[in-house]
Amino acid sequence: MTAVSPDAARAVLRANDRGGYTVPTARLYPFQWNWDAGFTALGFGTFDEPRAWTELDTLFKGQWEDGLLPQIVFHAPSEDYFPGPAVWRTPARTPPTSGITQPPVHAMVVRRLLDTARAGRLAEARVAQLYPKLVALHDWWWRARDPEKTGLVHILHPWESGMDNSPAWDGPLARVPMTTTSTIRRRDTGHVDPAMRPRDEDYRRFIHLVDAFADAGWDPARMWAASAFRVADIGVNAILLRAEEDLHALAGRFGSPEERARLAERIDAARLAVAATWSDELGVFRSVDFEGRATIDVPSSAGFLPLLTGAPSLGQAIALAATLDRWAGPGGAILPSVPPSHPRHEAQRYWRGPIWAVVNWMTSEGFARHGEPAAVRLRLYTRKLIEHGGFAEYFDPRDGAGLGGGPFTWTAAIYLLLAG
Ligand code: GLC
Repeated sequence: MTAVSPDAARAVLRANDRGGYTVPTARLYPFQWNWDAGFTALGFGTFDEPRAWTELDTLFKGQWEDGLLPQIVFHAPSEDYFPGPAVWRTPARTPPTSGITQPPVHAMVVRRLLDTARAGRLAEARVAQLYPKLVALHDWWWRARDPEKTGLVHILHPWESGMDNSPAWDGPLARVPMTTTSTIRRRDTGHVDPAMRPRDEDYRRFIHLVDAFADAGWDPARMWAASAFRVADIGVNAILLRAEEDLHALAGRFGSPEERARLAERIDAARLAVAATWSDELGVFRSVDFEGRATIDVPSSAGFLPLLTGAPSLGQAIALAATLDRWAGPGGAILPSVPPSHPRHEAQRYWRGPIWAVVNWMTSEGFARHGEPAAVRLRLYTRKLIEHGGFAEYFDPRDGAGLGGGPFTWTAAIYLLLAG
């Protein structure tokens, strides 16, 4: 493992750059991923602003006419990943894409890049081009993913949460049949120890959903009706709400007064809906299962992300800081994706326990917004964690060891934000 430094982090971004887009890591993830690209742009923004904007522009080349921003854009073919374009069977387009999405961090990223830009004129011009695409993306979320106007948007596939195999999805996912017709040719377990990856059983359910959506022609209304999995993920809702707040701020310069007013109304409603998911008992916000409108009482790090928004009260921000302490692993390791005391916690398995740098960074930004001193603790801890474990995909909360694939782009990008 090479020593961690800002220079080494920049070298990771350069090494994973495939010309206009950056792969999360070589081999395991050989394409451009939706929310990874947002964090990657922030990393590039610390030393190469034009390249930061290019990352986003390249991602938005995959945006669909209806506003959907796909989870994966397949810019160049690769045999290293399953499921590839032939499994997705999305409508033909160049570049090909998957047909689901991921957490919409992009307006948050764009506003931050604009605010920190040294090349101000370049930033203005790039935001002017991206702004209508961001509006289309946010409108898509509300239209396609809250058709019954519950006040929260829904994911139709666990991959849309970005936290693929979180135990919060175990209950709703159990209703999804395991495919018996499609062949699963996993490539990930050839690159990484299977004990750190989702199980085969999960993959058979993941692919059942992909097949159901392909059979529904990737039409949002038919997908909504066909999906056995409909969940208002608190992580996605928090990120969308934060992105809406940032879009609202951008609308002052790049949009119309009517658009600004429309966004303000949506923000007010979403704040109430997010606030209503709070659990005093668990000390975090929760996701909601659409079937029966039942809250999901499996605590996960996604439940901290409303801190990014204006939804939490001061009391809730303080309670979340106490939760952070309660969840700490040995030596004060924060923030495990699932608390170590929870029966479903698995220290090394992907989103069922390990620490992820992007979640830590967003959570520390959230604590900072609410004036909570835990922000500094989380920043310092995360920086040390990366220095200790390397630019790994995720980290073991027991000893801070780096796990999964690597060297990983978003971990390097977050290091640049923390080291600055
Ligand atoms: C995994 C993660 C997801 C990430 C992708 C690429 O699927 O769960 O959040 O975007 O890898 O890094």
